[in-house]
Amino acid sequence: MIQVFYTLPLLLAIANSVTYASPVELKRRLDNGLGKTPALGWNSWNVGQCSAATATSALAAANSFLTLGLKDLGYTYINIDDCWSLKSRNSSGFIVPDPTKWPNGIKAVADEIHSMGLKFGLYGCSGTQTCAGFPGSLGYEARDAATLAEWGVDYWKYDNCNTPSGNSSGRFMTMRDALEGARRPILYSLCQWGRDSVWTWGKTVGNSWRMSGDIEVKWASVASIASQAADISSLAGPGGFNDLDMMEIGNGGLNPAEERTHFALWCLAKSPIILGTDLTKIPASSLQIIKNKALLSISQDPLGKAATTFIPDSTSPVPVSGKLYPYWTGHLSDGVVVALIAVDSAVNLSVKFADVPGLGGAGSYKWKELVNGTTGYGTSVKASLEAHDIAVFKVMTGENHNG
Ligand SMILES: *[C@@H]1O[C@H](CO)[C@@H](O)[C@H](O)[C@H]1NC(C)=O
Ligand SMILES: *[C@@H]1O[C@H](CO)[C@@H](O)[C@H](O)[C@H]1NC(C)=O
Ligand SMILES: *[C@@H]1O[C@H](CO)[C@@H](O)[C@H](O)[C@H]1NC(C)=O
Ligand SMILES: *[C@@H]1O[C@H](CO)[C@@H](O)[C@H](O)[C@H]1NC(C)=O
Repeated sequence: MIQVFYTLPLLLAIANSVTYASPVELKRRLDNGLGKTPALGWNSWNVGQCSAATATSALAAANSFLTLGLKDLGYTYINIDDCWSLKSRNSSGFIVPDPTKWPNGIKAVADEIHSMGLKFGLYGCSGTQTCAGFPGSLGYEARDAATLAEWGVDYWKYDNCNTPSGNSSGRFMTMRDALEGARRPILYSLCQWGRDSVWTWGKTVGNSWRMSGDIEVKWASVASIASQAADISSLAGPGGFNDLDMMEIGNGGLNPAEERTHFALWCLAKSPIILGTDLTKIPASSLQIIKNKALLSISQDPLGKAATTFIPDSTSPVPVSGKLYPYWTGHLSDGVVVALIAVDSAVNLSVKFADVPGLGGAGSYKWKELVNGTTGYGTSVKASLEAHDIAVFKVMTGENHNG
C-alpha cells in the first residue's frame, strides 16, 4: 500500500529533476516580482520549535510588529515554521491544518494578518515528510501550491528533509513552477542548507536560498555563517539573495556586541532578516538593535549588492576561508559602506579611504557610523571595539571634497 502510494510521485519527481537540470531550463528565471530587497519578518522556529506553530503565536507576533513599531520600519512577514499541520493528509490528499493549533483554519489567520497590513508565511518540505515528520510536498507540489494560494499565503519556506538522493535543484524547480502555476505572488524561500552550490542556481529558482547549515545561538555560528557568505556575495542581487538563516537576537547566548554584529552583518550581506525570538519578551537592548533604521536602510538599499571582505594593505592578514574577517565593504545606491569587526578580542581598527576598493583614489569624505550615529569627515575612519563588536561607516561618495 505505502509503496504504491509513494512510487508514482517519486518517479515523477526524478523525471522532473532530469528535465529541469538541462541547461536550457536553467536559464529560466523566477520572476514573481517579489524580494527585490531582502525580506524582513519573523519566524516561529527559534521561538519554540513545534510548539510555536500556532495561530496564537502568529497573531501575537503580528501585534508586536504594530506595537513595537517594527511594521513602520518595514518588517512585514509573519512566518510559521514546521509542525502546523496534522501528521497525515486527508483521504483526498490535502494537507490539513492542526485544528488544535488553528481553530479557525489558516485562511482566517492570514486574513487577519493582511488586515493589519502585514503578510503571512508558511513552511513546507521538498521531501516525503518535513523535518519534524509532517506531510511533505514531494509529488504534491501543484496541489499544495494551490492550497497556499487559496489560503492567502505570501511566503513559502521550502525545506530539504526526507528527500530522494541526488541534486536538490529539480525538486526546488518543481515547486517554483507549481507556485507560478498557482497564480498568487508567493515569495519562495529555498532551504536546502547550501547544498549543490545553490548560490549558482538559486536565483533562477527562488527569491532567497539558505547558504549554510542551521544557525545556533552562539558567536561561533554567527561568525562562521557570515564568513561563508562573504565568498558568495557577488551571486546575490535584487529578486534573489543569500539567506544567512534566521536571527538569534533576543535569545540569550549572544552578548550585546555580538547581537550588534549579527544584525549588521546580515544587513551588509543582504540576507533576509527574519527575527526568531518571542517579541512579547524581547529585551530592550535587543529591540534597539533590530530597530536600527540606518542599518535597515543598508539591508533595503535598492541596489541590492551584498558587501564582502577586502584587504586594506599589505600588512593586513589574508582572509582565511571559514573565519570571519575584520574588513568589509560594499556599494550602496548612494555611497559605499565600510565595516570594521573585532573578530577575536578588543581591538583598535582603522582604514584609509584610499585603501577601500570602490572609493577609487584618495579623498576626504563625509561619513556616518550607523551603529551609534556618530558622524565625521576625513580621509579615514577608525573604531575602538570591544571583542566581537562592529562599526559600520556609510561613506557619502557624492560629497568628495578632494577638489
Ligand atoms: C480534504 O481537504 C480538502 C481541502 O480542505 C477538502 O476540499 C476535502 O473535502 C477534504 N477531503 C476529505 C475526505 O475530507
Ligand atoms: C545541481 O544542479 C544544478 C542545475 O540544476 C547545477 O547548476 C549544480 O552545479 C548542481 N550541483 C551539483 C553539486 O551537482
Ligand atoms: C585603543 O586605543 C586606546 C587609545 O589610544 C587605548 O587606550 C586602548 O588601550 C587601545 N585598545 C586596544 C585593544 O589596543
Ligand atoms: C556604540 O555604543 C556602544 C554602547 O555604548 C559601545 O559599546 C560601542 O563601542 C559603540 N560602537 C561604536 C562603533 O561606536
